[in-house]
Amino acid sequence: MDQLLIQLFPIAINVIMSMFTYFSTVRLIPNVKDMFIKANLYGFDMNKTSKTKVPEALGVVCGCTFLVTMFLFIPMPFFNHFREGAKFNHKEFSELLVAILSICCMVFLGFADDVFDLKWRYKLLLPTIASLPLLMVYYISSNMTEITVPKPFRPLFGDFVDLWIFYYVYMGMLAVFCTNAINILAGVNGLEVGQSLIIAMSILVYNIVELSRDYLKSMTFSLELNDNLWRAHKFSMYFIIPYIATSLALLRHNWYPSRVFVGDTFCYFSGMTFAVVGIIGHFGKTTLLFFIPQILNFLYSVPQLFRLVPCPRHRLPKYDPETDQLNPSVTVFKKSELNILAKFVMWIFRTSKLVDWKEDDRGVVTCNNLTIINFVLLYAGPLREEALTTMLILIQVAGTLLAFVIRYPLASLFYDT
Ligand code: UD1
Ligand code: MG
Repeated sequence: MDQLLIQLFPIAINVIMSMFTYFSTVRLIPNVKDMFIKANLYGFDMNKTSKTKVPEALGVVCGCTFLVTMFLFIPMPFFNHFREGAKFNHKEFSELLVAILSICCMVFLGFADDVFDLKWRYKLLLPTIASLPLLMVYYISSNMTEITVPKPFRPLFGDFVDLWIFYYVYMGMLAVFCTNAINILAGVNGLEVGQSLIIAMSILVYNIVELSRDYLKSMTFSLELNDNLWRAHKFSMYFIIPYIATSLALLRHNWYPSRVFVGDTFCYFSGMTFAVVGIIGHFGKTTLLFFIPQILNFLYSVPQLFRLVPCPRHRLPKYDPETDQLNPSVTVFKKSELNILAKFVMWIFRTSKLVDWKEDDRGVVTCNNLTIINFVLLYAGPLREEALTTMLILIQVAGTLLAFVIRYPLASLFYDT
């Protein structure tokens, strides 16, 4: 029991600090709103009739209160050392510092993106740069590049495969994917924060489940707690709990009708936080499982992201002021402009009824923009904006449930969990 209390002490402090963070962020956001508009950081809500300026990039406030909380929290996991003079854990300390550094770096670069409206290629570069310090510490502290081979493939490859440098490429790509995948599933009030919150809560539940399983195991077989496992999942919780607090505060102002927009800063900040805990906690694969809707949205978007079909600057749904409802937005182009690959891919999409494709006699095509937001509207729309966001968040929750089924009952078929 004593052992458990010592383990849980920093988490309890973290929860208390996060509550303070939540209340201060809720109050801070409306206070700084006007400063953003003065600095020309605003946008117009395209799904409303009123043309008021909505402050943009408020994710930076969230990122800053998160960072301040983390700075104040730094000594807490090491209280044991101060109390008993136990050996100081430099590895854990450097992991904590560098994780904060990577997130800090990402908030800064994300804000630069909001201010300068960077091109797509830089959006891919920024998270890679921000994850470099993290990869460096990973190399020095654990350099674990082996992965467990799924049972059916073991006769071929053995129990473990060392991915070597490719493991680092994979971790860098995890950061790039997490940040951008959230950013392209956006455009209706509350969606960026809503989906990120569900992902964060899923990670938190996963941490708690893993720790409880280990605690129960130690009780039944009177074993010591598994130190590595506790370190990894506690580390994740130190970040995820304050993250949830700041994002909940932001959601209160970003929910329909939005008083503030979150900006790309928020998407980068969120994606990086998830990548950091996934990498340091060694549960990158499970983290990705919580991104099922984002993965589907990315795959569905591929023809537009790689410019096989034209991609307008904004793909968010089209607002109908008459009915106050949203319809799928469209991209219009000449069929003769498409190359052979584009024609083939879009033929697959059409025959599997994934798109609404209209062609007139002059060969001009009108096709819905390829996001799952528009896809939902195609089958369930037209919808009011609030209903659409709620539906998409429910899809995210369903994704998490599926992820847990894959992670626990199904994974035991492939791994010894
Ligand atoms: C991404 C999407 C784009 C989508 C946009 C909406 C891709 C490749 N890019 O671009 O299709 O339209 O996000 O965020 O998929 N806005 C609203 N209501 C909202 C949120 C945003 O009207 O609830 C509008 C506002 O005008 C706001 C702007 O979107 O100023 C912000 O867009 P930005 O985040 O800069 O777009 P991208 O991330 O580049
Ligand atoms: Mg954006």
